[in-house]
Amino acid sequence: MSKYLVTGGAGFIGSHIVDALISAGHSVRVLDDLSTGQRVNLAHHGDAVELVVGDLRDMETVSRCFEGVRGVFHEAALPSVPRSVEDPLTCNAVNVDGSLNVFVAARDAGAKVVYAGSSSAYGDTEVLPKHEGMPVAPMSPYAAAKVATEQYLASFAKVYGMETVTLRYFNVFGPRQRNDSPYSGVIAKFCRNALQGETCRIEGDGLQSRDFTYVHDVARGNLLAMETALPGGTTMNLAGGDRISLLDMLDELEKLVGHKVERTHVDPRAGDVKHSQADARRAKELLGFTCEHTFASGLRETLDWYRESIGVTAVTPEKR
Ligand code: NAD
Ligand code: UD1
Repeated sequence: MSKYLVTGGAGFIGSHIVDALISAGHSVRVLDDLSTGQRVNLAHHGDAVELVVGDLRDMETVSRCFEGVRGVFHEAALPSVPRSVEDPLTCNAVNVDGSLNVFVAARDAGAKVVYAGSSSAYGDTEVLPKHEGMPVAPMSPYAAAKVATEQYLASFAKVYGMETVTLRYFNVFGPRQRNDSPYSGVIAKFCRNALQGETCRIEGDGLQSRDFTYVHDVARGNLLAMETALPGGTTMNLAGGDRISLLDMLDELEKLVGHKVERTHVDPRAGDVKHSQADARRAKELLGFTCEHTFASGLRETLDWYRESIGVTAVTPEKR
């Protein structure tokens, strides 16, 4: 049994990593400022998880969190493309400067780092699927920040000899993903729309496609990356290797809810990537990782979760 730090552990992906760590018998500390994360995501663990409410941008807090820690899963960030377009300074301060604090503290504590990278690093490429040998081409401040951060991490591996891994997630979905913000992920929003009889707003023609990855698979991949000895600076995609368009995703959703889901088209989003699909071979080779969930099985579990939790995480009419 080891002790691990999960930054952003009260958030969507981070809280599933916490679940996987606790199931594996490890001890867990979480650093989260609860800006988008929620205590309720950790409540089922009671005192078994230590929650430090604090900001990544505060070096002293970050350093304290590393006491006795063998490794860190660095998930904390402001993870939205449109939010970064509106406010690039805060995006950089949290996602880049905050991450540097984590990496410096990890270096000082001798802790391994597994970092939540992003497929947005690839930008809008003609070539699909996107593989790790391709050049980076960020199209938004968010993507630029994620690239800068993974490159800082790789440089730390070189100059300080640290054990580091960047996992480039594609579009992660599943239970606990917030559906109550304009910055929420598309599946979270469309599940809410479908369940509450609202109209789904498709940005652009809806033919854009994503490699949607179920969050339980992403959490499992994180633990494998922490447990597996790899050269410092290793970067790999963590996704299923398929893609589906928004229009086809909505058709799947209609089948599951059993009624028509209203749709409307609005302008495409600034900084949007048209198609996203991972080449999933490197993670299979290095970690033995493949996704256990199909898109359909993940979507069913996700919709069931939103159905049950409606009233807790769903938006109420006054807040809309
Ligand atoms: P999330 O918003 O649910 O989680 C982020 C967590 O970080 C939240 O709990 C939030 O409260 C916390 N946080 C934000 N700013 C902080 C700060 N200054 N100090 C401390 N904590 C702070 O988002 P998520 O989807 O779970 O994303 C987790 C990570 O995965 C992010 O790094 C994101 O860039 C990356 N990622 C996500 C996706 C996706 O599809 N969701 C895809 C690629 C990469
Ligand atoms: C997502 C992640 C980001 C990650 C990236 C990796 C979220 C919130 N963001 O960004 O952290 O780095 O994947 O690929 O999970 N759309 C609509 N209507 C809506 C909302 C979205 O049509 O109401 C469209 C968007 O224009 C976009 C697609 O759906 O074309 C996906 O958007 P979104 O879920 O926000 O994810 P990404 O921008 O791909």
